[in-house]
Amino acid sequence: MFRPLFLLPLLLFSCQDNSGAATATAEHSGISLSKNTASDEELQLGKEIYNAVCAACHLSEGTGDGKNFPPVAASDYLNEDPVRSIEIMLYGMDGKIKVNGKTYDSFMPPQKLTDEETAAVLSYVYANWQNAGFHVTPADVATVKEKL
Ligand code: HEC
Repeated sequence: MFRPLFLLPLLLFSCQDNSGAATATAEHSGISLSKNTASDEELQLGKEIYNAVCAACHLSEGTGDGKNFPPVAASDYLNEDPVRSIEIMLYGMDGKIKVNGKTYDSFMPPQKLTDEETAAVLSYVYANWQNAGFHVTPADVATVKEKL
């Protein structure tokens, strides 16, 4: 997807704001995400989906296995860019990535989830395990779909 290089430092800067304040937002590709505003219902749905789908590879506490499956707990890669996380859910992931200083080179299939489920599972992951607290909404997922 088109992302002007000159915006990159700005994006990285804004994403690394881990202050956790409820009013903090991150701007990505015109998508603005608030932090720590997901409802209990969204987080509960996200937890159920995480345990049913993601835990098979990323393990129940999000630690991954350190070999083929990267961690989604306290993951620098995850917290750097929530819009990229939406893209990974929709389109899967292939090729080399570095997560918390370790290189992974494997494959994640696209997740066949509704916009609501995609939003809930990402909000759950971001709300836990020392992650940055981004609240992903179904509308954000729909916006990312439209852009690609
Ligand atoms: C079949 C195994 C599998 C399943 C199921 C799976 N993933 Fe992944 N995931 C992977 C692999 C493998 C990678 C790394 C791909 C690479 O090396 O290019 C990855 C990468 C990621 C990343 C980016 C790297 C990181 O660790 O921050 C995120 C975020 C992620 N997955 C979240 C999820 C979520 C949320 C779910 C559930 C909806 C899920 N994954 C389901 C295998 C899986």
